[in-house]
Amino acid sequence: MNWYAGFETAVTENVPLAPKTWFNVGGPARYFVEPEDVAQTAAILLRLRENDIPIYVLGSGANLLVSDAGVNGAVIHLNRSAFKTIAFEGRQVSAGAGADVQRLIRECAHKGLSGLECLAGIPGTVGGEVRMNAGGAFGDIGSQVLDVTVMDINGQSYTRQRDDLVFEYRHSNITAKLILAATFELIPDDPNRIAEKVKEIWMFKRNSQPLAENNAGCIFKNVNGTSAGQLIDKTGLKGLRIGGAEVSQRHANFIVAKPGCQAADIQALITQVRRRVQEKFSVILETEVVIW
Ligand code: EPU
Repeated sequence: MNWYAGFETAVTENVPLAPKTWFNVGGPARYFVEPEDVAQTAAILLRLRENDIPIYVLGSGANLLVSDAGVNGAVIHLNRSAFKTIAFEGRQVSAGAGADVQRLIRECAHKGLSGLECLAGIPGTVGGEVRMNAGGAFGDIGSQVLDVTVMDINGQSYTRQRDDLVFEYRHSNITAKLILAATFELIPDDPNRIAEKVKEIWMFKRNSQPLAENNAGCIFKNVNGTSAGQLIDKTGLKGLRIGGAEVSQRHANFIVAKPGCQAADIQALITQVRRRVQEKFSVILETEVVIW
């Protein structure tokens, strides 16, 4: 019997992952799983566990490099409407893990709730951005979190409160396999002022980052507050190219995937950049981008 008997509407085999990532490179997922709701997610997780199938969780693929071989396991994508809800209650907003953060920012601005605009221009889902505490110079998502609902590999779900959560630079202490939803506590402000702030942050990013090309945001983490982009730039690596992968001319911590680019080109370029920066500055850059 097939491991996913009874869940045929949620599981597809051999699904190309490239179009689901911002790099637009990489191979297929052996199984691609889009559960209908929380109960079905729990049941599918149990089946995957019983069958020893590795589990990967996809958000919006904005910070992800999939290898050319793809993924020999199950990629779970919380993309159905049950996981995209956004609900307001006073100063709080609860959002499903699959909700798009840019949409969430717009809805909060409209309601006159401030706090999430620091994430303007950082593509991602609520689940993905909470998991790795997405942010930048203007703030991070973790500082606005009130609680996070997660599901472990046994299909058990529970809610973790702010006191028990730790958000650090591009890192959280959430270890459960899946994030299902998060609640944020925001500050009332004038909708026009919030919209202005969002616009300013967008302009900053448009001027300093290669937003129009296929990329996955910053490749490396900053090092004790020093911009990895600046280190790579000072090493003279802007424009360095391997195959279809190129260090962005606009921001050196971005790699852009040109037409025909393979995941292996990007991986080779990451290795080369890391080596050259280590030679020059004796600093070992750590990747921020998730690699499957
Ligand atoms: N710089 C250079 N050359 C470059 C890039 C940057 O000299 O090629 C200099 C800039 O001129 C500036 C300094 O380095 O003086 C810092 O640059 P920037 O303001 O772009 O910030 P960053 O530290 O490089 C971080 C985040 C970005 C986020 C920006 C803005 C990390 C790894 N990067 O970049 O996040 O967009 O701040 O808030 O934390 C991401 O997470 O994917 C990402 C792109």
